[in-house]
Amino acid sequence: MKTIAIVSSLLLLGAAAAQEIQSKPFHLVLQSANNTYNGQKLAACHSGAAIESLCLAGNTGSEIYLNTTKDKSFVESEPMSFYVDPSTNLAMPMFQPSYDQQQVMFDKEDLMGIYSYLGDTITPPTDDKVRVLKNWYLCETNYSAYTYRTLAWVLGNGKAKPQNPSCVKVQVHRRFVQ
Ligand SMILES: *[C@@H]1O[C@H](CO)[C@@H](O)[C@H](O)[C@H]1NC(C)=O
Ligand SMILES: *[C@@H]1O[C@H](CO)[C@@H](O)[C@H](O)[C@H]1NC(C)=O
Ligand SMILES: *[C@@H]1O[C@H](CO)[C@@H](O)[C@H](O)[C@H]1NC(C)=O
Repeated sequence: MKTIAIVSSLLLLGAAAAQEIQSKPFHLVLQSANNTYNGQKLAACHSGAAIESLCLAGNTGSEIYLNTTKDKSFVESEPMSFYVDPSTNLAMPMFQPSYDQQQVMFDKEDLMGIYSYLGDTITPPTDDKVRVLKNWYLCETNYSAYTYRTLAWVLGNGKAKPQNPSCVKVQVHRRFVQ
C-alpha cells in the first residue's frame, strides 16, 4: 500500500507551524448521495513525473498523514497544491515537489474543507469573515493526457457549480487507520 505524506498542506489553521507533528495515518473516504462513490477511498495516482492526483480507489486507498516538518532534510516533500487550467472552474489537488501549497482543514466531523476569508460577491469585497468551504467533487478530468476520476475543487463560494458534466458532489472524510 502506498503511503504519501501531505507535508504542511493538511494543517488546521492556527496550529503551531514550527512544531514537528506527524499524525497517525488516515484514509480519505468519500461520502456522497451517489452510491457508486459513497464509501470509496482516494489514492494517489500518477499524473506526470513526480506529480500525483487523488483518484477513486474503491476499498484500497492510500495511507495519508499530516506532517508539519518541512525543509529539514533532503527528503523531497510533495505538498498538495491546486492546479488550475483557465478553461475550467475545477481546481485539481496535486501532490508535487513545490513551494506552493494549499492548506486544508478538518472539521469536528472530520470532513475536509478549506478556510476562506474572501467574499467578493459583494462590493467592495471583504476579507474579515472566516468561512469553511467544502467545494469537493469527483470528476472525470484530463490532465497531461491522463484521464481519471479525480477529486476536484470547484472554484468560487459555496454556491459554485462545476461546468464539467461528469462531476458528482462528494464530501471527503478523514478516517484514521486502526
Ligand atoms: C515527518 O515528520 C517526522 C517527525 O518529525 C519525520 O521523522 C519524517 O521524516 C517526516 N516525513 C516527511 C516525509 O517529511
Ligand atoms: C453516480 O455516479 C456515476 C458515475 O459518475 C454515474 O454514472 C451515475 O449516473 C450517478 N448516479 C446518480 C444517481 O447520480
Ligand atoms: C486527454 O486529452 C488528450 C488531448 O485531447 C488526448 O490525446 C488524450 O487521449 C486524453 N486522454 C485520455 C485518456 O482520454
